[in-house]
Amino acid sequence: MTDYSNYTVSIHYDKRLYRQDITGSKAHVRMLSQQGIISPEDAEQIVQGLIAVQEEIESGKFPWDASLEDLHMNIERRLAQLIGPTAGRLHTGRSRNDQIALDLRLYTKEVIKDTLANLRGVQQALVGLCEQYSSVIMPGYTHLQRAQPVLFSHHLLAYFQMLQRDVGRFSDCYRRTDVLPLGSGALAGVPYPTDREFVAQQLGFSKVSANSMDAVSDRDFALEFQFAAATCMMHFSRMSEEIVIWSSREFGFIRLADEFTTGSSIMPQKRNPDFAEIARGKTGRVYGNLMGLLTVLKGLPLTYNRDLQEDKEGFFDTVDTLLATLKVYQGMLPGLTLDVERVSSLSGESYMLATDLADYLVGRGVPFREAHGVMRDLCRYCEERSTDLQSISLDEYRKFSASFEQDVYQISAASSVAARDNPGGTAPKRVAEGLEQAKQILRDNTDGL
Ligand code: ARG
Repeated sequence: MTDYSNYTVSIHYDKRLYRQDITGSKAHVRMLSQQGIISPEDAEQIVQGLIAVQEEIESGKFPWDASLEDLHMNIERRLAQLIGPTAGRLHTGRSRNDQIALDLRLYTKEVIKDTLANLRGVQQALVGLCEQYSSVIMPGYTHLQRAQPVLFSHHLLAYFQMLQRDVGRFSDCYRRTDVLPLGSGALAGVPYPTDREFVAQQLGFSKVSANSMDAVSDRDFALEFQFAAATCMMHFSRMSEEIVIWSSREFGFIRLADEFTTGSSIMPQKRNPDFAEIARGKTGRVYGNLMGLLTVLKGLPLTYNRDLQEDKEGFFDTVDTLLATLKVYQGMLPGLTLDVERVSSLSGESYMLATDLADYLVGRGVPFREAHGVMRDLCRYCEERSTDLQSISLDEYRKFSASFEQDVYQISAASSVAARDNPGGTAPKRVAEGLEQAKQILRDNTDGL
């Protein structure tokens, strides 16, 4: 006879929630006693039993049993073995439906705090690199074509800002996760004089859920976490892509610490940026987990349906992937070295100053569109002669516009960067302000919890 029971078993992954499950049970049982629903002696016995169960789990002695399906049944059965029939009073006024909703919310709240601490760590690492290379100018790109010179630190602070929005998204998700579902029972509430506020207070929830039917079937908080995680991974994937490109011989902008590169089994010269590539690749599974949960939820009638058990594996995978990526980045960024000479020399390439030369003409009264046309023709002229804008004579310049003077040769990467002195621009003064602001954000924990 085929044994089909494995199909519904979740113990191999939901056991990860044992601590939250036991914490929730203790708070529940204390409330039952306080409200006179069970006796203080029974409550004390149950609490002591739960402590013993937790010790067994943590010392690896707990007899996990897949035939009991899930975490809740495993713990309840073991409690009965340890303390006898009193264990049966624990589940008074509770259902596995509000219990699992509670466990997952407690877990998510912890994970968000961990995520935020690690995001701050990456932001700190970015700030460290900005300070190390504060005055270095590099080529800035659009369409992956050299466009205009920018400060390297301006480029890094762009990522700081992305991560700051991630901080905001996770904090926001925390506020909606911070709602106690316990007390909703199976779906309709419970027929006991419970004190939900007391439980909320014990467990550190700032609110209790307003509708029992919603509370047992709502997984929006897990979805929001997954969306925030997917967006955050997307940011790391973009950063990874730049690290991959920058560490190629063609670019030669950066060198990663040995620890974060691997050699090839056949080509001895290789220094592959595997960690960045893996981070880019892992973004895919995090997107997949978000889509998976959205799809699990879409057809569910109120209230609890067993489909909801499928919320966990993808969620845990996202948590693990995100936290591992944040840790890798905190290790990898500080050991990244910039080839200052190479990026500085490339940023002085004259074509990247074409916009500045157009702006120069504008400063002498030429309408911008006309100046743009002059510079387009000049660039083409230089390209045809395999020369550049710094090497042609003033006479040649003046063939294209009489407004050019000797000081056209003073335009440089440094003057280009310095000129972009409006809020948010790459002028050293502005970037220094941006760096100060970033440090202030870290000090004040702006948008955090
Ligand atoms: N293992 C279940 C889950 O993860 C717990 C709730 C089960 N509830 C039930 N009525 N079978 O969702």
